Amino acid sequence: MGRKVLVTGGTGYIGSHTVVELQAVGFEVIIIDDLSNSTAEVVDNIEKISGIRPVFEEFNLLDSDKLTAFFGKYPDIEAIIHFAAFKAVGESVEKPLYYYRNNLVSLMNILDCMSKYKIPNLVFSSSCTVYGQPDVLPVTENTPKKDAESPYGNTKAISEEILRDTVKVTPDLNVIALRYFNPIGAHPTALIGELPRGVPNNLVPFITQTAAGIRQQLSVFGDDYNTPDGSCVRDYINVVDLAKAHVIAINRLINNTNTDRYEFFNVGTGYGASVLEVVKTFEQATGLKLNYKIVARRPGDVEKIFADTKIANTVLGWNAETSLFDTLLSAWNWEKRIRNIS
Ligand code: WQD
Repeated sequence: MGRKVLVTGGTGYIGSHTVVELQAVGFEVIIIDDLSNSTAEVVDNIEKISGIRPVFEEFNLLDSDKLTAFFGKYPDIEAIIHFAAFKAVGESVEKPLYYYRNNLVSLMNILDCMSKYKIPNLVFSSSCTVYGQPDVLPVTENTPKKDAESPYGNTKAISEEILRDTVKVTPDLNVIALRYFNPIGAHPTALIGELPRGVPNNLVPFITQTAAGIRQQLSVFGDDYNTPDGSCVRDYINVVDLAKAHVIAINRLINNTNTDRYEFFNVGTGYGASVLEVVKTFEQATGLKLNYKIVARRPGDVEKIFADTKIANTVLGWNAETSLFDTLLSAWNWEKRIRNIS
């Protein structure tokens, strides 16, 4: 079997797509997930896609005894991709301690075990929220970080500081943080995708659920921003393209081709699409008419953000390849499959 990689949060949205891409290039994947925001059926569907069933252990990373025992069972893990975290922006505002404890203590437990078991390589799931509302666009890796818009975003910013400071005093620790912009879409097989619990916070799942008749109408949060059509601009990145960036990052660490022991990269398309453009593109891709209305702005929303991807393109050798049109179609195909819509 291939080289062993632990994927925490591996039954989640981005985690599951990354597991599939890791298996496709011969890695042996082990998943830890507490299923707080996903289901075990994802493991079955990963196996259907790749033909390989990843090892899956269900527990929360806050349980440091279980985590230590886990690494004792798998002494030959060479690298970790750490996705496991709570990520609902609105919920984090209501429950800050729940978010700080889960997201930060989980990371610190992972780092403790990496030190104890001499695991040298970590890829960390970070986020463009560390930039807040940037003064200059597009955002580069050197764009000054600003106060996060939410406790969720702050856990990502603090996690990066924890990683940077830990690398400084841990000579054989190598870390790459990937700063995602807005991940959207689903696997081409429609066997895995984004399945938010309850009412979706994010735009694309709300669009697909509206098209499926599960939601009455999409509310577009504001069209009075300083953007071409007045609605907010984001950098929507296809989830499979994003997953492939993690494989490149893991190989960079395992092959020791990283130039610093703490590296971070923007992972986006470099193109900023407005909310109304996403709606229009969804309608073009699916042939459907979407029921939506313009409402008031959502507090905390950043007006405009999109990535400068030159560093990821040139240093990682990674490029976003999938169009917004095809990505939105993949999201709709996924929604149709899980709702049994022909
Ligand atoms: C996108 C745009 C909304 C819903 C969040 C996290 C970020 C990352 C991606 C994890 C905004 C508008 C949305 C709706 C709308 N997550 N919108 N109606 O807020 O950019 O980023 O998800 O890493 O960390 O902060 O994503 O999809 O919620 O919103 O008009 O029903 O869509 O106003 O302009 P966001 P989003």
